[in-house]
Amino acid sequence: MPYTIALAGKGGCGKTTMAGLLIKYLVANNKTPILAVDADCNANLNEVLGLEVRDTLGNAREDMKKGVVPGGMTKDIFMEMKLEEAMVEAEGFDLIVMGQPEGAGCYCAANSLLTGFMEKLVNNYPYVVMDNEAGMEHISRLTTHNVDILLIVSDPSRRGIQAALRIDDLARKLNIGVGKSYMVINQVKEPPSEMALEMIRKGGLELAGTVPEDRTIYEFDFNGRPTIEMPEDSASVQAAFGIFNKIVDDSRKAASP
Ligand SMILES: Nc1ncnc2c1ncn2[C@@H]1O[C@H](COP(=O)(O)OP(=O)(O)O)[C@@H](O)[C@H]1O
Ligand SMILES: [Mg+2]
Repeated sequence: MPYTIALAGKGGCGKTTMAGLLIKYLVANNKTPILAVDADCNANLNEVLGLEVRDTLGNAREDMKKGVVPGGMTKDIFMEMKLEEAMVEAEGFDLIVMGQPEGAGCYCAANSLLTGFMEKLVNNYPYVVMDNEAGMEHISRLTTHNVDILLIVSDPSRRGIQAALRIDDLARKLNIGVGKSYMVINQVKEPPSEMALEMIRKGGLELAGTVPEDRTIYEFDFNGRPTIEMPEDSASVQAAFGIFNKIVDDSRKAASP
């Protein structure tokens, strides 16, 4: 069973950036191979990782539903082939993109093939990092597999923290089997206020740490340079690595008797 870390949070808070830094951390610590799953319908984890994507699992599902299966090929083999085409391989990690959620109509057959494929696939990797949208539709629909850590990213605002607490609630209700949820406050300019800390405490979410606003992240992003190539001594990378060190090791200790 892989060790799965899923990222969640409202749009623009820094989930994809954090997913990229987490993959950088795991590679740097030889915790490989990693399967990176882009489960945000506005997919851009590939940019942070510096990879080109050819196809998505959503397209494979769509083609199968429309019946665009070449003659002489079974649906299973067609789906398997499309899914393999959607994998992108890199040094230490592979990326797969979920793509658009399903449209109207019945996708049961395609979804059950997809779920089967995902379950087989994740078992080839000791680590899975999943970049999600706030609704977490893909986690609940496409894998029955548990999430060891749900890392909820927030900006420092009151509304950001409220959104993070709601996501934590949703994760509990969706019953996606989260081992432990943590919150990370990203793009901080100053330490969080006592009021913010109190709000998080009351919501029952553990604050794993904060990541400063960092001009280097912004500059890399703006110049189309992959975040994963950021220098390790930059403030945001240092802060993020400190958090990952704490939470990945923490839960490892908790997992082994
Ligand atoms: N700590 C940070 N400092 C500066 N800019 C950041 C930081 N974290 C993220 N950003 C920038 O904020 C924007 C949104 O980040 P992104 O990771 O795409 O958010 P999300 O995936 O949650 O929508 C991007 O332009 C990213 O480069
Ligand atoms: Mg994103």
